[in-house]
Amino acid sequence: MSKSIAGFSKLSKSKKIDWIVETYFSNKEDANRILKQYWNTDEKLQQLHDEFIENTITNYYLPLGVAPNFLINDTLYTIPMAIEESSVVAAASKAAKFWLERGGFKTRVISTTKIGQVHFIYKGDFNKLKQFFDKTKPKLIKDSKAITANMEKRGGGIIDIELRDKTDDIKDYYQLHASFETLDAMGANFINSCLEQFAKTFKNDALKFDVFSAQEKQIDIVMSILSNYVPDCLVRAEVSCKVEDLSDNDTISGEDFATKFIQAVNIAEVEPYRAVTHNKGIMNGIDAVVLATGNDFRAVEAGVHAYASRHGKYSSLTHAKIENGIFTFWMEIPLALGTVGGLTGLHPLVKLALELLHKPSAKALMQIVAVAGLAQNFAALRSLTTTGIQQGHMKMHLMNILNQFEASNDEKETITEHFKTNTVTHSAVVEAINKLRVKN
Ligand code: MEV
Repeated sequence: MSKSIAGFSKLSKSKKIDWIVETYFSNKEDANRILKQYWNTDEKLQQLHDEFIENTITNYYLPLGVAPNFLINDTLYTIPMAIEESSVVAAASKAAKFWLERGGFKTRVISTTKIGQVHFIYKGDFNKLKQFFDKTKPKLIKDSKAITANMEKRGGGIIDIELRDKTDDIKDYYQLHASFETLDAMGANFINSCLEQFAKTFKNDALKFDVFSAQEKQIDIVMSILSNYVPDCLVRAEVSCKVEDLSDNDTISGEDFATKFIQAVNIAEVEPYRAVTHNKGIMNGIDAVVLATGNDFRAVEAGVHAYASRHGKYSSLTHAKIENGIFTFWMEIPLALGTVGGLTGLHPLVKLALELLHKPSAKALMQIVAVAGLAQNFAALRSLTTTGIQQGHMKMHLMNILNQFEASNDEKETITEHFKTNTVTHSAVVEAINKLRVKN
């Protein structure tokens, strides 16, 4: 039976492990060994990781792979990807190579505005609230100067603050809806600090606004928080080539490939069941680079999926067309990313990943990440509409199955050779291992 515990966070790391091992595991020795096996031998590095979060007991590894040959706006990139799914990096590399031979990816940042809101309750006359807001707006900005000074020096800061009447949705509910430019920072801390300052000034000054009645003076702040929905922090990535250049083998013509590919995209545009999986494939590429570069993949996920539903129905993030014999495949997505602040200057592997990407600005990183998403979707649709997904997927998954069976290096070599010309299924691999083991 598991137990509750008081003061867990105050315990030392080893005492935390002792308690967990004692409370939850039957093979205590094994559990203890596995947890400690993942500690880094460099104590300073381990301490850095311990201090990222509360109650760290060990490290959780993900493979960091790289996908080379990405030509983006005529610059070559090798893209770092942190991901556990076997086929993702291979698919990205394949798509990169395919488009390298066809002019590469073209990208453009459309906009970089981020949003934050102070949500509040006001019981009274809207005209008076509007009058108070207009009077106080310059003060909201002035009182935030200590927070915004550095960002402003670099060309960013608060863009605007609007008063929004939300009383059609909830009685007495209003917002300060603010927009920000946070340059190379993802900006969550900056935006939230500004919003909390707006809330403080707004609430305090309302108490002194003589036009308000006693009740109207009591503005009730519910919360102040940035929005991870960033439809105005938008990037576009695109590939295009002549339709006849789309085929790289004799089994399918460029025209047939383009027709099927566009049908697949059209299906994801109209059918939410398909759109979710289609976009999941895009996020395979996006999340992997977002994670490798120390950015917040949950924020990106939430924002991207909201954007995919912006017309009231969940739909494809990518689009494709043929015009004048040219096939074009593109995507526009919102991405709030940072290349300064957060983990970017702290995590040694993140620093390395950013250097690998030529130390990008946030705008440059938006473009790289969008390309990783588009490439992933291209690779997935290409497989789905030609060979089917399982061929490539299972080939990459083969090593996982072999590792499950603790195959030796020799066994891996023999079996991998065998499956170069045979279809990989779980049972076929098990059969091959058993056969090999009986023989030896
Ligand atoms: C698997 O992780 C992703 C795919 O399902 C995406 C898709 O279906 O487009 C292959």
